[in-house]
Formats: sequence, C-alpha cells, structure tokens
Amino acid sequence: MADPADRADPKQEQMDLRRVSPEGTKLTTDQGIRVDDTDNSLSVGERGPSLLEDFHLREKITHFDHERIPERVVHARGAGAYGEFTLHESLAEYTTAEFLTDTSLTTPVFVRFSTVAGSRGSADTVRDVRGFATKFYTRQGNFDLVGNNMPVFFIQDGIKFPDFVHAVKPEPMSEIPQASSAHDTLWDFVQLQPETMHMMMWLMSDRALPRSFAMMQGFGVHTFRLVNAEGRPTFVKFHWKPKLGTHSLAWDESQKIAGKNPDFGRADLWERIESGAFPEYEFGVQLVPAEDEHRFDFDLLDPTKIIPEEDVPVRPVGTLVLNRNPGNFFAETEQVAFHLGNVVPGIDFSNDPLLQARLFSYLDTQLIRLGGPNFPQIPVNRPVAPVHNHHRDGYHQMEVHQAQAAYHKNSLSGGCPAVGGEGSFTHYQERVEGNKIRKRSESFADHYSQATLFWNSMADWEKEHIVGAFRFELGKCDHMHIREGVVGHLNHVDHDLAVRVAEGIGVSPPEAAATPNHGRSSPALSQANSAADSV
Ligand code: HEM
Repeated sequence: MADPADRADPKQEQMDLRRVSPEGTKLTTDQGIRVDDTDNSLSVGERGPSLLEDFHLREKITHFDHERIPERVVHARGAGAYGEFTLHESLAEYTTAEFLTDTSLTTPVFVRFSTVAGSRGSADTVRDVRGFATKFYTRQGNFDLVGNNMPVFFIQDGIKFPDFVHAVKPEPMSEIPQASSAHDTLWDFVQLQPETMHMMMWLMSDRALPRSFAMMQGFGVHTFRLVNAEGRPTFVKFHWKPKLGTHSLAWDESQKIAGKNPDFGRADLWERIESGAFPEYEFGVQLVPAEDEHRFDFDLLDPTKIIPEEDVPVRPVGTLVLNRNPGNFFAETEQVAFHLGNVVPGIDFSNDPLLQARLFSYLDTQLIRLGGPNFPQIPVNRPVAPVHNHHRDGYHQMEVHQAQAAYHKNSLSGGCPAVGGEGSFTHYQERVEGNKIRKRSESFADHYSQATLFWNSMADWEKEHIVGAFRFELGKCDHMHIREGVVGHLNHVDHDLAVRVAEGIGVSPPEAAATPNHGRSSPALSQANSAADSV
C-alpha cells in the first residue's frame, strides 16, 4: 500500500496547518515574549519570597492548572487513529451520500476505540463493551458512525441511559470500580430491566474481551435510513468486519494483561500502525426495503435486536484502513467529538427511541466537555467541507468573521450564504401521527428470544466461558435476591444455562424451564416467538 503521506489527503492537509513543532524555536510566553530563564522564579534575593510580578511563573502555572478537561461521561478511555475509507460497490440505488455512491473517492476518517465504563486511566482489557466511533470527513460534511463492537444495546429507550450508566459505574460512596458493591448495582439494574438480557449474553461472552481493536467487529446498532435520489427510503444497519478476523482474549489472559500492561489495547493499535501492519475492516450494510418494516418477529426500531444475517445478509461494500497515528493524543483523540446527529444527505434516522435520545445527548455533553459551542472548529472536528453560517462569537471562537450582517436574510455588503439547492440535506418526509404517550409498543416486549438464539449459536466451549463469566460476575453480587432474579431471567433464555449459573453461585437451580411466552402478550408475536424457539 502506498504511504498515506504520499497521497493527497484533505484532512491531513488541514491538520498540517495546525501542527506545531518545537524544532529550531525559542521559548516564549503565550504573548510571544522570549523567556530568559524557566527554572527559577523571580524572587527577592537568592533565598527570598517569589514576586507576583513574575508573569512567566504565573502564566506557566496557570496554564498547567487548567490543562485538564472533563473526561467523557462514558467511553472515557480510548485510543484513536486516522485512516481512509474506500468504496467498492456503489449504493446509488439506495442513497445520495456521495461517499457511499462514488467508488472513485477516498474518504479520510478518524476512528476512536474505547471501553465504556472505566475512567480515563483504567485498563484496556477489562470485560466491557468497546466503542467503535468513526468520523468520515466527506465532501458533503462530516458523517459520524458512533457504534460499538456488539450489535445490540442494554436498553430500548435513551431515557433509561442515566439510570443504566449510574448502575454500571462505581457506587458513589466508594468509587471502587470492581468492588463487590459495584456488581450489586449492575445486576440489580439487570434483574429489574429484562430488556438487558440479550446484551448481557454478549457482555458475558468472549466478545467483551477483544484481543485487539484490529480484531473486533463494529456495529452501528440502530436501524438507520438511506434515502435515494427519488426520495425512496431503505432501512439499513451498518457493520464493520475486521480483516484479521474476530478474536478474543481468554478471561485469565485478560486479567493478567490488565495488571501487567493496562495500556495493552492502545499500545497494540499504535504499534500496528507504526509498523505498517494497518488494521483493516470491511464495511457492510444490511438493507431492508421500507415496505418490509413489519415483516420481522421483532421491531426494527428495537436496539436490543439484531436482524439475523440468515434473513438479511450483510453486503460488503467498502474498506476502512487505519494508517496514521495521531500527532497529539489530547488534541486529536481526547478532543474529537462524535455525534450521531452528524449525517450527510442520503442518510437519515429512524424512530428508534434509543437513537432519538442519543441525538440530544452527544452535542449536549460536548458543549460542557469541550467548553462551549465552537468545538466543531477544533482541528480534528473540522469538516473538510467548507463551513459558512451565521453562528457567531462564544467561547474559543477561532474565526474572524467578516461582513456587516450575521443574519438570514440580509442584503448588506459581505453577502449571505445561499440556502437550499442541490446537495443540501433534506429530512426524509416520514408520515407520523399518534397521541402523545409514554408507552412502548408491544412489539418491543420480547426480551428473551434473541438472547436464546445467541446462546444456541455458541459452541460448547463458548457456552462454558459464558457460564463462567456469569458465575464470576454475578457471584460477586452480595444480595441473594438479585442473584435469584437474574437466574430467573436466564431461565427464560435457556434452562440449562440458568441451572449451570445457579449451581455456581449458591442459588437453587430452577426446576423447570420457564414458559416460552418470553414476556409477550400479543398472539401474533407469540406465534412468531414459538417459530423462533423451534429454530
Ligand atoms: C460516548 C456508542 C448509547 C451518550 C459514546 C462513544 C461511543 C458510543 C462509541 C464514544 C465516542 C468517542 O469515542 O468519543 C454508543 C452506542 C450506543 C450508545 C453504540 C447505543 C446503541 C448512548 C445513549 C446515550 C449515550 C443512549 C445517552 C442518551 C453518550 C455520551 C457519550 C457517549 C454522553 C460521551 C460523548 C463525549 O463526551 O464526547 N457512545 N452509545 N450513548 N455516549 Fe454513547
């Protein structure tokens, strides 16, 4: 592969304008004044008190005092890399997004991998979900695919996200991440919210212990919508598949590595790229015609469900190669701001209630994490597409906007950006109507069938690992009623699984399999459910 440094890359050209190197320079203050001594503060005599007038001392200490920004409220621990996305097969039949239709284009990207629950300094190899967030710097603006290495999620509605995260993070009184008490809160949440069961099966499987970021899958999780030039919508799920295959650490390995080298994951990513062994992923889509929205025995809008690949195969259409390490961790990996709401023409949202809440959350949290509304001007976040609008001022404004008028419409000198026309984003005109209610559709009620499918798809040794993980993790929970509650749910997933877990954690094994209605009450869905059970 050609050295990326030899290829024209609009994002790197843009970044290069901002890169500063100390080579051949002289030390100055932030005001550009040359400094004569940076080891000794200004004092009265050789042994006297320091002087307030020492502007260099004050500036140096003040800047240092303000070096930290808040870590991300989730996914705080991460590692990033630049790369490029190439398309092999045009999706022009389904979307107008140029980077998904023009096979001659190479689209620059920045990817950030992360763990979810741990703080910024936590270990890389813990049992956890991994984030897989990709910013495509397309010519039509930034498209962010903010996914995970598991295809489903813990909850169905984003309104539960603060509750879920409070249950996963360390308990407030001790802030001890792996204290037994932290296991109480997660498992308490799980037993009271059975919609978590499918994701908990993934979390207790080896998928939660990826061997390398280069060896894990990525999923957009939600059902999105592609919209073509005629305005025809198609539902889509996005997939990343690593070219090296999907591989995991063994549990014992992951614990030892966490102790000996907590930076294992980020070092692995860095060294692969430095040595030219660039991580590669195939980009694939599952496409569902809009008229098939209701043909499944689950709801396409339910993020705790996959679309089985037997029903809708993944169509590989592109390749992602990660080929350049960041030049500065803070400036790039820490300040990058992904947002599900960053979409380009031809890609739109669905009514998945988890997705809808995320559309609010990311921009909101970044306003505080990155200090105000101008963080899209931070080099790593800047689109390569030109930006023109009437947004003005605010903390850390970097642009020097010209022109007399900053409002739409205006007729004064300096001009006014044109609105609309070819290439502008138009929201898909979905027809919706209904009463304002707080009630989830019955089609979201089955919390177990796909957990069962997942369990049934496992080899015996994988099942052993899952049972071992449940015993280890749930066995750390202090409260018997919580252990029993979780075993009760597992009995709906698979009787043998429930018995094996129960026997390892001092809970009486359930005597019989739970009735297979899986929490559903609609006869049509129950029928579909028994069909799924017989698979
Ligand atoms: C961060 C994925 C659900 C709120 C992230 C990141 C990823 C991610 C990959 C890290 C981005 C980075 O590397 O900078 C997901 C997936 C979800 C999900 C796949 C479910 C399908 C949610 C929900 C909410 C939420 C439901 C809130 C309603 C956040 C917040 C951050 C975050 C606040 C920190 C963002 C920042 O500080 O820049 N998420 N998330 N996430 N997520 Fe999610």
